[in-house]
Amino acid sequence: MKYYDKLIFELSRPGRSGYSLPASFAPGKGISLPENLRRKSSLDLPQVSEVDVVRHYTNLSQMNFGVDTGFYPLGSCTMKYNPKINEEIASHPLFSGLHPLQPEETVRGAREVIDGLDKALAAITGFRHFTFLPCAGAHGELTGLMIMREYHMARGDSARTKVIVPDSAHGTNPASAHVCGLEIVEVKSRPDGLVDVEDLKPLLGPDIAGIMMTNPNTLGLFEKDIKEIASLVHGCGGLLYYDGANMNPLLGKVRPGDMGFDILHLNLHKTFSTPHGGGGPGSGPVGVAESVLPYLHIPVTSGFHGNFAVMMRAYAYILMLGKENIRMAGPLAVLGANYIKESLKDVYKLPIGSVCKHEFVFDGLLNDGARDDVPGATTLDVAKRLLDYGFHAPTIYFPLLFHQALMIEPTETESKETLDAFIAVMRTIASEAAEDPQLLRSAPHNTPIRRPDETTAARNPIVKA
Ligand SMILES: Cc1ncc(COP(=O)(O)O)c(C=O)c1O
Repeated sequence: MKYYDKLIFELSRPGRSGYSLPASFAPGKGISLPENLRRKSSLDLPQVSEVDVVRHYTNLSQMNFGVDTGFYPLGSCTMKYNPKINEEIASHPLFSGLHPLQPEETVRGAREVIDGLDKALAAITGFRHFTFLPCAGAHGELTGLMIMREYHMARGDSARTKVIVPDSAHGTNPASAHVCGLEIVEVKSRPDGLVDVEDLKPLLGPDIAGIMMTNPNTLGLFEKDIKEIASLVHGCGGLLYYDGANMNPLLGKVRPGDMGFDILHLNLHKTFSTPHGGGGPGSGPVGVAESVLPYLHIPVTSGFHGNFAVMMRAYAYILMLGKENIRMAGPLAVLGANYIKESLKDVYKLPIGSVCKHEFVFDGLLNDGARDDVPGATTLDVAKRLLDYGFHAPTIYFPLLFHQALMIEPTETESKETLDAFIAVMRTIASEAAEDPQLLRSAPHNTPIRRPDETTAARNPIVKA
């Protein structure tokens, strides 16, 4: 343990102080509090010098891993580096200082940002209009499904109570459908990872409200049969919902509106310049095609105009890149992902070898070092060992289609040197697994916290000593 890993209370020494206040200017002894409100014993605060305080908090800030401290190849969650200028713009006092209850005519600038973002997202996706009410991707899914249900109900089509969800879908898709009161029908993927159109056909009928699809799907593969799927689903009277959380590789290249989708959500906090993760503020705007426009929620922003700072960053990001440059994000991310995939497939199991779009999935180590007397190393062990080498782990055990899933997404902002360093470490870990799997099973060895009980840590976090 490093000296400054100690609790600030352990650094405390009686009488030591990190501040000096001027003598009181108040006349007499200052304000006299009533006896019953006065503290009976002194406040138990740590007594430390200024330098101890500065070191304590600086060290604390570095005990966690962030996208500003290193490569973060988290598949499906798109933890990409976001330009700091967007942060600066969103936190400009002219925007951050707005009061949510200010009269409408005094927030015209903010309204203009929201309208401008609506138009930019409509141009990018091929949809008519957006509601900025949802504050997360899953929230967007629920909103979108409610719009879908409203559409059918308004046509007197109340028997449409089922929604089709591929077996590769993100877990929030079936969860949102369930919360919306819809029954979930699963459609299977083919061995190549794409939705099995033959499995889909018999599921379609007068009880189907629609299908939820992610494209590229959660295996990072482009659903190339999407046009056929759209005409089959529309043919049975259903609608197509696009989970746009994976929209980044398509920016400026392909529009979900042109693929035949009717409703979509985007994750501004993944694709458009707000870091994702940790339950921070998000924005999952929902867009609708012309046919569904009458069912778009009004007002289009949630309380206090939605998560305005997230929207502000997204707008700044889109305007900064512009029409031409935004097209480069996808190809660069796709190139990086395929480069890693091809460089590691001789040491990690690659269940689906086709060209991936921005993320791909390994199914654990090719040689995990298991012997009769020694258990092998798992995907969890690889992920933990990566931390020792200063890389954040990829997404693990998702999608559920593979037992040892290791889902990697490099994002467009990573250089070839960073990708090469990651590849080298992944290869080192593969050799370590073959030679000494125990080294991985007991990893991480160099982090402040080693292997917490992750379920308890997530459900019942103790954030203070
Ligand atoms: C494909 C997909 N859909 C939906 C979501 C849900 O988004 P959120 O976490 O903002 O609710 C995610 C989250 O990462 C995702 O990857």
